Amino acid sequence: MTDTAHHNTGVEGVEGVEGGIGLTALLVAAARAIETHRHDSLAQDIYAEHFVHAAPASADWPVRIHQVADGDANPLWGRFARYFGLRTRVLDDFLLRSVRAHGARQVVLLGAGLDARAFRLDWPPGCVLFEIDREGVLAFKHQVLGGLSATPKATRVPIPVDLREDWVAALTDSGFDTTAPSVWLAEGLLFYLPNASETNLIRTVDRLSAGGSTLAFEVKLDKDLLACRDSPLYTATKHQIGIDLLSLFNREPRPDSAGHLEGKGWTTTVRTPFDYTRHHGRGPHPEQNDALAGNRWVFADKPLR
Ligand SMILES: C[S@@+](CC[C@H](N)C(=O)[O-])C[C@H]1O[C@@H](n2cnc3c(N)ncnc32)[C@H](O)[C@@H]1O
Repeated sequence: MTDTAHHNTGVEGVEGVEGGIGLTALLVAAARAIETHRHDSLAQDIYAEHFVHAAPASADWPVRIHQVADGDANPLWGRFARYFGLRTRVLDDFLLRSVRAHGARQVVLLGAGLDARAFRLDWPPGCVLFEIDREGVLAFKHQVLGGLSATPKATRVPIPVDLREDWVAALTDSGFDTTAPSVWLAEGLLFYLPNASETNLIRTVDRLSAGGSTLAFEVKLDKDLLACRDSPLYTATKHQIGIDLLSLFNREPRPDSAGHLEGKGWTTTVRTPFDYTRHHGRGPHPEQNDALAGNRWVFADKPLR
């Protein structure tokens, strides 16, 4: 066994942010850094560039659009980064709307990665954010935020656990209350999980959610995933920074998670990113052979009983 293999305990071969799925968290952080400093920024994350600079794997990635030779014409740091900026904004709005309008005070970020929402959004008093990701990713996040002396604006509870395993005890042992409404987010996560793990995750969210809870998640439609394999967005990500998203995505047929929730009495709304590009007047537009064509953002509400 090589030294590297010995230390890499994740199924994809690498546990932290230095490779495999963990590296995708740095990709999103770099995109957020670029978005933050656009003149027409959709979302601000002042922590994002610190993560990018702190990891050897991403230290030389751009964190401003002017650092990219072809700027917005670059499929990765132009269009794809703008996509992440739009997604960040839409899901920021979802989370704040949920805690403000529905009164929920517990938020669970599934596959939280380098999401700094606990530090950058104005949470109402009494909010608790549970951040679930794998241990190596959360350890890196802790180290970088600690170095910045960052102060969260809500109680933050990191939970190092693999979502393919049984994560319920880890959450409830950390203080999650199944009798109170909750807000859930699975942003950029489900397409990495085996079908059974996604099915189990959605069932579990339903089981742990009191009436009045909300959930937002992102999915990719199978047919578009296969049809757009050679889209510029995937090839640029692979060639410019060595992340082969298609090899990281789980290739099993995807479950109908929105349909499952509907069957359990939730109401769901399914949107495309382009709906929000129109709404905000900026963001990615559809194009031919588009890796984003199959992305859907699903918003679900569990009724009060
Ligand atoms: C693309 S990143 C998105 C991170 C964050 N939600 C965001 O949008 O910035 C995907 C994240 O999912 C996490 N992840 C993937 N599979 C996971 C698993 N089986 N258990 C826990 N976390 C997982 C990765 O470690 C990574 O941080």
